[in-house]
Amino acid sequence: MINSLRGFRDILPPESDLFARIEAAAREVFGLYGYQELRIPTLEKKELFVKSTGDTTDIVEKEMYAFTDGGGREIANRPEGTPGVVRAYIENNLGQTGRNGKYFYIGNMFRAERPQAGRYREFEQIGAEHIGNPSPFADAETITMLVRLLEKVGAGGCTVVLNSLGCGECRKAYREVLLAFLRARAEKLCEPCRGRIERNPLRALDCKIDGPALAETAPKLTLCPACAEHFAKTQELLKISSVSCEVNPSLVRGLDYYTRTVFEVRSSALGSQDAVCGGGRYDDLVKSMGGPAAPAIGWALGVDRMAMLLKDKPAADNGPKAFVIAASKEAGNKSFELITALRAAGLSADFSNFELSLKSQMRSADKSGAAFALLIGEDELKAGAVALKPLKEKGDQFTVPAAEAPAKLKELLKL
Ligand code: HAM
Repeated sequence: MINSLRGFRDILPPESDLFARIEAAAREVFGLYGYQELRIPTLEKKELFVKSTGDTTDIVEKEMYAFTDGGGREIANRPEGTPGVVRAYIENNLGQTGRNGKYFYIGNMFRAERPQAGRYREFEQIGAEHIGNPSPFADAETITMLVRLLEKVGAGGCTVVLNSLGCGECRKAYREVLLAFLRARAEKLCEPCRGRIERNPLRALDCKIDGPALAETAPKLTLCPACAEHFAKTQELLKISSVSCEVNPSLVRGLDYYTRTVFEVRSSALGSQDAVCGGGRYDDLVKSMGGPAAPAIGWALGVDRMAMLLKDKPAADNGPKAFVIAASKEAGNKSFELITALRAAGLSADFSNFELSLKSQMRSADKSGAAFALLIGEDELKAGAVALKPLKEKGDQFTVPAAEAPAKLKELLKL
């Protein structure tokens, strides 16, 4: 017996139904907001993530599934979607299409984190990226879209946490102040933080070990007037779209490319892995990756965590409406013809094995969740009829002409 890898899991029904429900809701919401789907590769050059996600981030330093392929190329399983979208945007000249650069993706990401509830090594993200719009209207639209999606799937009790990390200019001065603060406490920091504060002091603030305590006491960033105005306008617009947020100056996010607005959606129902979604502006990333100056903003929703939030709200039963049973050996062909006709009429129908006993087929019908069993035995075969037996509600079995069975079933099920 070969088991799955640690941190990798099977998404079984009914949880898989929740995944599909979240994806369907997201597609609908993306449609309302003018987003188009971008399908990006799972594997990319490792360098893409080193340069964009950032070489001082936990994701790149410790968690990447990277390997050297047979041709000596350094490759990584994507730990997140944003770098691939940015690469695709640049490589395919998407900035020249004249359309709004609004893209969404749905796909699995890989991070070799320590597995725990809500934290997996392979997980699904639904992501949205709006490239080419520097305005706070884009920030407010993006966050509003996310909140509308949460409402649509019925994820209550979530909080939107908001902050601004400012631009390169605001951060230059802050870097020095923060570095001095961290150097004074270097001995108390965890080893990875000690090794990276000189390269990127901000990383210490989102460190899983030191971050929470440091965030309380560390000096706070002061925004330049332009960034302060952008942040105030974003909040003003979020009020207009009835999105309530909690401003939290400790929110720094764990990826390197962010500028200005950053946000997370958290739910206390999730325990320690409480972030359902994270995102923010990345105004300099496209240019720094060799593309045009294209300010951007986006987010990614963790579908596994969202499914955890919805697990008490199971999807409507998507079992078959009808279960067909061949009650005699000779009835197999007619039963097969019937199930074909039911499905052609748009009715979900199933059967187990027409070659098994009536008792065994009946047992499968009961377990299937179907509303009706449709039986063909010797008598029905002779009469060209089908017997309908209600499975969920009380009622007697009755027969109808075989050709009328699909219509009768639709009538009974009020379809
Ligand atoms: P992130 O905060 O690293 O951001 O991930 C987004 C979401 O993915 C998290 O809030 C969480 O729900 C889910 N997630 C992350 N790691 C795991 C894990 N190990 N197991 C289960 N779920 C996980 C990004 O990835 C950015 N690309 C978001 C973004 C898009 N920023 C701008 N555009």
